[in-house]
Amino acid sequence: MKKCQEVDERILLTFVGYLLSIGTMIISNHLQENDQKNKIQSKAQEELADLNAQLKEFENNLRPKNMNAYIGQKKVVRQLKLIIDSANIRSVLPEHIMFYGQPGLGKTTLASLISNELGAHLKTIAAPALQKSGDVVSLLINMEPNTILFIDEIHRLKAPLEEIMYSAMEDKVVDLVMGKGQGVSLGRFDLNDFMIVGATTQLGKVSKPLKDRFPTLFQLEPYDEVDILELLDKNLDVLKIKMTEDARIVLARRCRGVPRIANNILKRFKDLQVVHKIREIDKTTTLEFLDELGVHENGLTKSDILYLKSLKDSSLGLKTLSGILLEEAETLETVVEPYLIHLGYVDKSSDGRRLTPKGKVYVENKL
Ligand SMILES: Nc1ncnc2c1ncn2[C@@H]1O[C@H](COP(=O)(O)OP(=O)(O)O)[C@@H](O)[C@H]1O
Ligand SMILES: [Mg+2]
Repeated sequence: MKKCQEVDERILLTFVGYLLSIGTMIISNHLQENDQKNKIQSKAQEELADLNAQLKEFENNLRPKNMNAYIGQKKVVRQLKLIIDSANIRSVLPEHIMFYGQPGLGKTTLASLISNELGAHLKTIAAPALQKSGDVVSLLINMEPNTILFIDEIHRLKAPLEEIMYSAMEDKVVDLVMGKGQGVSLGRFDLNDFMIVGATTQLGKVSKPLKDRFPTLFQLEPYDEVDILELLDKNLDVLKIKMTEDARIVLARRCRGVPRIANNILKRFKDLQVVHKIREIDKTTTLEFLDELGVHENGLTKSDILYLKSLKDSSLGLKTLSGILLEEAETLETVVEPYLIHLGYVDKSSDGRRLTPKGKVYVENKL
């Protein structure tokens, strides 16, 4: 009986041992698998972090770092260099400068390059952020010496605030009303040395007195194909994308001559390259992807096409077009129309916007 019990115990022990060893094997396999999974996961995470770091760096590197790296706008750049060199030799700040032109052409970029070249502080503000006279006064009196004050969308500066700007721009002073009631007194506050760089997409909306206080006005024009190709070549390198020559030409023709549009499209191509691991992007892929992005021949978008089709039978006013396209009149005037006029498809007349003969042929044959 006892022997039988001993045998049972031995069998039981062997069985338990067996179970334990299977358990250990399963656990160790599981640990190994987990270890491998963790390794793969951490490698993927590292790769992702790498890619994101690269993309962040690309974003910085897409911006030209100095005037020499600024592509196109050659006349403007030549004149700016002269103004800056002269100011640097005389150890003064240049007179106020205003840039105008459609969005994405490089106004903000130039303002920051000017401040770099002059070794000045850059203070940036968008005009709509200035609501009360107190906002302007405090901005001006708190400026450090040797500051470039970049005022973006300057056509949206409110009239009473412009008044404060006039004496600041001309005489570098701000007149302050101090105290209240009978104790009220006028004070004059001398400002530190500064210069204003203004930017606007709508020069026509800048009041004449304000415009007159900018001795230098520079118009930025859409870039021609050669300049856009240079920008694409440089930024394809920055983004580490390979693209065939004919694909680059297709792309250059669809950027509307606007660096911001070119850069935005390039970033989408980076996504395509990353996801599909494409070694070199060819013309067919480029054409297919641009169509998918809604960037058609000549860089026309859905809005442009709808705009052109709306004018097929008669000329229309800006407000009507704005209603049809559900697009702000300002956007139509600053983004859509300049390009369609530049292509020679549309012109503005006293009775509204209309298709030119070239525009009619395009709408009838291509849309
Ligand atoms: N001449 C240029 N060379 C290279 N990149 C440019 C140039 N002009 C603009 N860019 C790039 O295009 C984008 C839009 O420029 P930005 O200065 O913001 O235009 P804006 O102020 O006129 O709307 C930025 O990423 C900028 O780095
Ligand atoms: Mg800007």
